[in-house]
Amino acid sequence: MVTVEEHYESLLSDVYTWLMGGFDEAKSNNVEFFKSRNITPSSSGIAVDLGAGSGFQSIPLAELGFNVTAIDLSQKLLNELKSNSNNQPIITINDDILNFKDHVSASCELIVCMTDTITHLKSKDDALKIFQDSFNSLEDGGKLILTFRDLSTELNDTDRFIPVRSDENIIFTCFLEYEPATVKIHDIVYIKTNGTWKLNKSCYRKIRLSVEWVENQLLSIGFKLEESSNSNGFKTIVAVK
Ligand SMILES: C[S@@+](CC[C@H](N)C(=O)[O-])C[C@H]1O[C@@H](n2cnc3c(N)ncnc32)[C@H](O)[C@@H]1O
Repeated sequence: MVTVEEHYESLLSDVYTWLMGGFDEAKSNNVEFFKSRNITPSSSGIAVDLGAGSGFQSIPLAELGFNVTAIDLSQKLLNELKSNSNNQPIITINDDILNFKDHVSASCELIVCMTDTITHLKSKDDALKIFQDSFNSLEDGGKLILTFRDLSTELNDTDRFIPVRSDENIIFTCFLEYEPATVKIHDIVYIKTNGTWKLNKSCYRKIRLSVEWVENQLLSIGFKLEESSNSNGFKTIVAVK
């Protein structure tokens, strides 16, 4: 078992963008996501991307006119973000998202924490800290957008093997091992080099957050829920201060 940071460093960051369908497809999905929700800068224009990865949210937000601070533990993915960003106004910070308040000096209009980043935290208390710090950092009317997979319901037996993506050179499979509060995520990737398949495998934990728990915490902090929706098991929550 390794930490999230080690997992991305040793396995996931090298194939992450490919895994998500490639940069152009993942970016255009997010352009559509923000467009369909009328997300555009209307006051401070300051946006923070928590767990920014290779920039699938940061870059569309910068193109919409936001000044984006992108925070991630993976320097490899932040380097990708920078090289894809076309000199858009994006500040990249290599740090734990739990420290994000140290990197924003003014009230934010938008905070996003998308594609399961929130479940990479170690505990529900850490998720709660992100929710509370987000509330404190947002201006009135500012939004927190979360997207994550609700892992509260267990898959059983062979359903726990997920064929994530494959092509002629890479086969990526995931195996889920459920624990009471967490799920051990075993990533198993075969990469073909010079005609030979090589196996790389690594395991890390995600926390099991139910959408009801997340909604209740956000409401009790003082957020209003503008959206709570489900698409193929992926939850989207848009919370407004
Ligand atoms: C599933 S990826 C999502 C990336 C991006 N938001 C997207 O939609 O593609 C999760 C990202 O969160 C980062 N991450 C996980 N835990 C983190 C933490 N505690 N602090 C900073 N980054 C973290 C990982 O390095 C990874 O880039």
